[in-house]
Amino acid sequence: MEFFEVMHKRTSSRKFTDERLTEEEISKILEAGALAPVGSNRYPNLHITVVTDKAVLKTIAEASQIRRSNSEEMAAIINNVSNAAEILEQSKTYDPFYNAAAVIFVSHRKQDLEPNIQWCNATSVILAMHLATVDMGLGSCYMWFALDSMRRIPELDHTDLLNLPEDFEPLLGLAVGHIEEPLSERDIDTGRIARNDI
Ligand SMILES: Cc1cc2nc3c(=O)[nH]c(=O)nc-3n(C[C@H](O)[C@H](O)[C@H](O)COP(=O)(O)O)c2cc1C
Repeated sequence: MEFFEVMHKRTSSRKFTDERLTEEEISKILEAGALAPVGSNRYPNLHITVVTDKAVLKTIAEASQIRRSNSEEMAAIINNVSNAAEILEQSKTYDPFYNAAAVIFVSHRKQDLEPNIQWCNATSVILAMHLATVDMGLGSCYMWFALDSMRRIPELDHTDLLNLPEDFEPLLGLAVGHIEEPLSERDIDTGRIARNDI
């Protein structure tokens, strides 16, 4: 697919079919991640975990469900919307991973040599994989909420299930799966990010 076709078709998919991903598909997505740039060429500071085990995802999702139903932060958001009761009801079965066939987690070695560069590195890798899925006709979505919820509710932090090397922490994920309808080009205002010229 031509680059700008990928860009115009790119979207966050939040509904997936039950079809599993093949090893070839997963490898191709990871290939794109490995081709992404990371600060100071420090690739050994990154680690990728491919989770297809639904039981593991269900456990990791617990913190998101609690946060979505209970936290003051979520209540504040919900107060502003008309279907608050519905959202609270749905939170009991809320799946932050949208039943995706796989969630690819990007973890980073804990470090303070270059503060916050780990977030830039993680998003660099995730974006490359996100775009690869568009090219491959798959759907995908960044996963921040699920990991952020585990950070905020330490008693429901199930990071250990990711079996990471010592001193690594999961920062972002990408939920990936097959989608019902092929992606089509979207009508996006490409002037939506403000600009100034100096
Ligand atoms: C850093 C980052 C974190 C995100 N985290 C989540 C998330 O946890 N769950 C989710 O459903 N979408 C998440 N998204 C997707 C955004 O909501 C989405 O990109 C945005 O609303 C624009 O929609 P589009 O991607 O379809 O153009 C995230 C996106 C980014 C860039």
